[in-house]
Amino acid sequence: MKQDNTNSGRRQFLVSATVAMGAAGVTAIATPLLSSMLPSAKAKSAGAPVEVDVASLEPGMMITQEWRGQPVWIVYRTPQMMKQLNSNTHFLADPDSNSSEQPSYCKNIQRAMDSHPEILVVVGICTHLGCSPVSKMKVGAADGMGGDWPGGFFCPCHGSKYDMSARVFKSVPAPFNMRIPPYKYLSDKKILIGDDKGEA
Ligand code: FES
Repeated sequence: MKQDNTNSGRRQFLVSATVAMGAAGVTAIATPLLSSMLPSAKAKSAGAPVEVDVASLEPGMMITQEWRGQPVWIVYRTPQMMKQLNSNTHFLADPDSNSSEQPSYCKNIQRAMDSHPEILVVVGICTHLGCSPVSKMKVGAADGMGGDWPGGFFCPCHGSKYDMSARVFKSVPAPFNMRIPPYKYLSDKKILIGDDKGEA
């Protein structure tokens, strides 16, 4: 009887020790698996919002910021450029941006936030085959375009044209206005691209 109890106690100890060692083994194996499932720092930064300092941006200037591997243009439009936006509509395929992609707070003629209507923030990629257009912001023939050019952007790949709100012209290969990304102002001098939480 006494030996049975001793054997039973030893068995119990061995079972507990084996379970404990097994659990430790599972933990040791699971940790590297879990860490390999987490996104890498590179992947996180590729999708993360980016902050842009626009303190030095002046009327008529444009800067480019990379976001998610795409060029985002930040354009400070002059009063003359802003005035053109109303008179261009007969050139445009989608002047009210009904078929084009932008946050609801940018679905207007400026395609910009009401707080800073003169600042255009746009993904600088042609909606035809994804080339990057060039800026032709001067009105008329001054930028090598025709005399009736209202100022905007030109994609030399297949000849698509966009106005100063990145709205596409009629009768060109590109089907849509260029895309406006989500964004918000952190201050008058800082824009966050890729995050618009808190914006209506
Ligand atoms: S990619 Fe721009 S016109 Fe074709």
